[in-house]
Amino acid sequence: MATAEKTVVLAYSGGLDTSVAIRWLIDTYGYQVVALSVDLGETKDPEALKAKALAIGAKAAVVVDGRAEFAAEFLTPALWGNALYQREYPLATALARPLIAKHLVAAAREFGAEAVAHGCTGKGNDQVRFDVAVASLAPDLAVVAPVREWAWSRGQEMAYAEAHHIPVPATIESPYSVDANLWGRSIEGGVLEDPWVEPPEACYAWTAGPEAWPAEGEEITLSFVAGVPVQLNGAAMALEELISAVGEVAGRHGVGRLDLLEDRLVGIKSREVYEAPAAVTLIGAHRAAEALTLPRDLLAHKAGIEEVLAQTIYNGLWYGPLTKALLAYLEETQRPVEAEVRLRLKAGQATVVGRRSTRSLYRPELATYGEGDAFDAQAATGFIKIWGLPMKAVANAHGR
Ligand code: ARG
Repeated sequence: MATAEKTVVLAYSGGLDTSVAIRWLIDTYGYQVVALSVDLGETKDPEALKAKALAIGAKAAVVVDGRAEFAAEFLTPALWGNALYQREYPLATALARPLIAKHLVAAAREFGAEAVAHGCTGKGNDQVRFDVAVASLAPDLAVVAPVREWAWSRGQEMAYAEAHHIPVPATIESPYSVDANLWGRSIEGGVLEDPWVEPPEACYAWTAGPEAWPAEGEEITLSFVAGVPVQLNGAAMALEELISAVGEVAGRHGVGRLDLLEDRLVGIKSREVYEAPAAVTLIGAHRAAEALTLPRDLLAHKAGIEEVLAQTIYNGLWYGPLTKALLAYLEETQRPVEAEVRLRLKAGQATVVGRRSTRSLYRPELATYGEGDAFDAQAATGFIKIWGLPMKAVANAHGR
């Protein structure tokens, strides 16, 4: 029975699982529950969220606005690293978990809690990310995962909810499991579990489908300073606002829909659908800015670092020393990445159509085939003679 003093801080979304978890933590372990929600761009009504948690039995409910922090400390480095897991997934959900974990730990300290809790199942990546992030930041805190522990069917969960007067959504809940923040929206489950079935139009919320694409494309200009987008169409804005604005316009043109067969850290292959209009557009623009301002050898080496970064983020190692070292490397690379990039958004694509920079490494007098050519083509003969020497040696010694 309740030893009333023990406190747990629960990452609360307002959905059925974490609502039931409030009651379950009280009844099962006798915890006092602090419900913590972090707004990463998708919290519509913080007051209603808090009221719901308190009505279910939480002793306190807190909503933190994490948008600026998410943009500055998580999305900025991800953009520097053009981070895409398995070359496609921009890692929206994966990037949010360590930030939420950081706030869970801070709240645990504030409320004198001995544990934190989250609503992840036992089959996904998110449990790993929460548990490992908390272990990295506060190894003394216990982590409770009610949904992983209770292992109920949907029916059992509903029955528990009804028995405890926990509000169950009146309408049929979305047949999908959805997680969304500034960087993207992740959609799983339902008919998507059959990888042969095309994602129904109804699973998308942020991007227009082919039927709804405006006939006319739309051009945008993004300005980068030190690898960070600071202006959209010449207007300066806070990064979190810029990301929302880019997502809005790119989504209208259907940019950023992804349908992947993904490898989870826990060894399961899984069908994952994403819409990430802002992330896809911004990574495309950022790559264009880098191509103009960074030298060839750095671009090539950085591509390997990007791959490692995507894996450390995906695998829940955000607070580990490897990620810290990768971020230091990336920050160093971004100093000259200052450019304007023009993109055409049309028919599901964000296409780079122009780029310029005062720090450009592009030299028109070297590249031109027209007037004013300053490239020493005669020197190319000597360069090629020496460059090709090893090939001659191989041909002579080994033949073809
Ligand atoms: N597979 C993605 C990831 O591991 C998305 C997870 C989505 N989570 C969710 N609760 N729907 O990051």
